[in-house]
Amino acid sequence: MAASTFFIPPVNKIGMGCMTESVELIRNYGYRQALIVTDRVLNEIGVVGKVQALLADAGIKSAIYDGTNPNPTTINVEDGLKILRQHNCDCVISLGGGSPHDCAKGIALVATNGGDIRDYEGVDRSAKPQLPLIAINTTAGTASEMTRFCIITDVERHIKMAIVDKHVTPILSINDSVLMAGMPKGLTAATGMDALTHAIEAYVSTAANPITDACALKAVTMISRNLRRAVEEGHDVEARENMAYAQFLAGMAFNNASLGYVHAMAHQLGGFYDLPHGVCNAVLLPHVQRFNTQVAAARLKDIAVAMGVDVANLSDGQGADACIQAISELARDVNIPAGLSSLKVKEEDLPTLATNALKDACGFTNPIQASHEEIVAIFKAAM
Ligand SMILES: NC(=O)c1ccc[n+]([C@@H]2O[C@H](COP(=O)([O-])OP(=O)(O)OC[C@H]3O[C@@H](n4cnc5c(N)ncnc54)[C@H](O)[C@@H]3O)[C@@H](O)[C@H]2O)c1
Ligand SMILES: [Fe+2]
Repeated sequence: MAASTFFIPPVNKIGMGCMTESVELIRNYGYRQALIVTDRVLNEIGVVGKVQALLADAGIKSAIYDGTNPNPTTINVEDGLKILRQHNCDCVISLGGGSPHDCAKGIALVATNGGDIRDYEGVDRSAKPQLPLIAINTTAGTASEMTRFCIITDVERHIKMAIVDKHVTPILSINDSVLMAGMPKGLTAATGMDALTHAIEAYVSTAANPITDACALKAVTMISRNLRRAVEEGHDVEARENMAYAQFLAGMAFNNASLGYVHAMAHQLGGFYDLPHGVCNAVLLPHVQRFNTQVAAARLKDIAVAMGVDVANLSDGQGADACIQAISELARDVNIPAGLSSLKVKEEDLPTLATNALKDACGFTNPIQASHEEIVAIFKAAM
């Protein structure tokens, strides 16, 4: 087994109501002027105002950038940077789901390294740590609040750039399930299936190791047991808290074992058609794992077990089939659309999407490398 490196923020608060007590931790860093990076919805529903008031009580002034798009763009990063510079901010606080976290990482990285966020596409391209980033999470989830991944849409090329850089890791992540209780059903389902995808792609990744395996399998079990409940009964505090832990575990897995073709392909759909990330993943997940079965059947059978499937007397191949079926059932139960055609994906775009998917850094650790024709075929199967 190749040596592994394990990345995680130095401090992570998780649990119902932990936002209030986290303010003390934030105060102790001694920052004076924060840039809060968020989106319009969270500002309008008053979440931003509450956090701003908590910060003010701790003696921290804050400016707000609430223009983050659901798939954050190169323009969002530039706009946020302007506000950061106007207010001379000494730290950045992201508040929201994966989009505000990724946008904040882009802003904080360029704030100290200079240039343009496009300069940092790829792995570890920056020279210096970003401005300190505190990430307050409201979805469950991308786990972006604790990863070294930053996904920004380049508005000129219509692709989602993967910036994988140890320097974008937040210094503090906060997962308070109270902030997640208001998520509507569709968002709960999409972000939960994103977390399931993280765990499964990390488990079958060529960079998996015993630590990431443990995190991935536990995440799969918790998501299988709690996602339906979190979707149906959004105010079930136990299901919400379990999903907050599960998505964090999935983040620990993929932050270190990386991902695979589901993300490499979903990024193209998100960049091209501006579709929700979790929905794209959920639709592609069973089809990519069917392709992976040729080399990863035994691993997929382990995932079936983690999902509560009885695999006694099943071969590895049959266990993998059972895993794919369990994934599809979960997706159907939480009302994920059945195929890409219903998301307005066009067959004539598939060759271009496949070309770009093969360049995405997330695909490099897929258990088997695919040809262009094979990626197109997986897209077609998912239509
Ligand atoms: N960096 C990483 O490690 C990583 C991993 C996976 C995905 N991502 C990225 O994350 C982005 C998707 O993030 P996301 O799925 O968390 O959604 P999001 O951040 O795009 O938010 C989607 C919508 O949900 C709303 N919302 C967020 N929290 C809410 C709450 N608690 N109550 C009500 N509404 C709420 C937002 O205002 C927004 O309108 C994509 O751009 C994807 O590429 C990043
Ligand atoms: Fe994801």
